[in-house]
Amino acid sequence: MNVRDSEHIIAELENKEDYALTDKADEADLILINTCSVREKPVSKLFSEIGVFNKHKKDGAKIGVCGCSASHLGEDIFKRAPEVNFVLGARNVSKITQAVNEDRYISVDIDYDESSYAFSEFRNNTYKAFVNISIGCDKKCTYCIVPHTRGDEISIPAELIVDEARRAAKRGAKEIFLLGQNVNNYGRRFSDASHQKMDFSDLLEMVSQIDEVERIRFTSPHPLHMDDKFLEVFAKNPKVCKSMHMPLQSGSTHILEQMKRGYSKEWFLNRALKLREMVPSASISTDIIVGFPGESDDDFEDTLDVMKKVRFEQIFSFKYSSRPLTKAASFKNQVPPEVSSARLQRLQELQEKILDEISKEKLDKEYEVYFEEKRGNGLLAGKSDNNTLVQVEGFDEWLGTIKRVRITNPKRLSMYGEVIL
Ligand code: 5AD
Ligand code: SF4
Repeated sequence: MNVRDSEHIIAELENKEDYALTDKADEADLILINTCSVREKPVSKLFSEIGVFNKHKKDGAKIGVCGCSASHLGEDIFKRAPEVNFVLGARNVSKITQAVNEDRYISVDIDYDESSYAFSEFRNNTYKAFVNISIGCDKKCTYCIVPHTRGDEISIPAELIVDEARRAAKRGAKEIFLLGQNVNNYGRRFSDASHQKMDFSDLLEMVSQIDEVERIRFTSPHPLHMDDKFLEVFAKNPKVCKSMHMPLQSGSTHILEQMKRGYSKEWFLNRALKLREMVPSASISTDIIVGFPGESDDDFEDTLDVMKKVRFEQIFSFKYSSRPLTKAASFKNQVPPEVSSARLQRLQELQEKILDEISKEKLDKEYEVYFEEKRGNGLLAGKSDNNTLVQVEGFDEWLGTIKRVRITNPKRLSMYGEVIL
């Protein structure tokens, strides 16, 4: 979502103001830092980055802090770093043109409704297009700061989403990547009650009607809202890529309750295994937090148990990080950092073992790969329908096309192969 917010900011500055991108910080008239605040580390990094930019920037260049850390730190940023010229929250992206023209501008309002705001167009990659379908999040997971930085969830009207997807596809983006904090809750609330009632499954069907769109991906769905209708559309619609992100967070029903995730270990396993049965070729990725307050050894074993049963193709794993404004920050029984570190290590070792087995099975398998970038190593890189990263030797003309590839060298994080001509 931050990548897309950055694209929106760039578009506004290029089209409505007189800015152009540069990758040389010492030549820039404006330096923007788009921030995350989901864990503590990126927040501390922010202030060291401001210091570095301030030292190297040219005279008179402005520094702006955008995104979730801007939302939750607000005025404090000016106090801790007086060299910052403006602060723009994650839900206030459209005000960037004001921010660059006023001194000490600050906008971190989360009531502000940007749900029907049409931004100018800019995309980092012409072959795939991120499209926001909702902003904010209505869940109140007890560890998570996002509802405080991005505000309540509002769905963007389907006509706007389809229009944006159509425009991007006409310019060469065969792949549309739908974005939201909780995509399969789409349609629960629009800014204006007159919008057509529909859910995420309906939206997937609508986007798939666009002729030029060949692939649709989305992130993140919530396991709680993975009803049968959703799984069926996922399984049957040929344009919907067969890779699902299912953020588990914890395998222990007790911890899931403490996290207020709204599902149990059994529900998660039921949905994941049903998905495996309906679409055997699908890959499943997940997010896991270890060391949530009160997590016992047994709770952690439950997480490992789910990993063994589902055999995720990809895991993003994190040590719990206590965040301001969240309920869990005041929970008793915080887990000692050395216990969390040991658990994270065990989790990652198990996952490496599973991944080694999964990747070995991919030798000689064939995939339809959509080539989307040329890497620094000179190879063309793309994704299979089920999200396997594949690299091959090839020609630049292959970018933006789908080709059949045989895997010749499967590695844990990327497969190497050759195009079958
Ligand atoms: N500590 C650690 N990880 C967190 N996440 C969200 N909040 C926290 C936190 N306080 C993780 C979740 C989420 C991902 C984007 O970041 O796993 O799915
Ligand atoms: Fe945070 Fe939970 Fe919303 Fe995801 S669903 S953004 S973890 S509150």
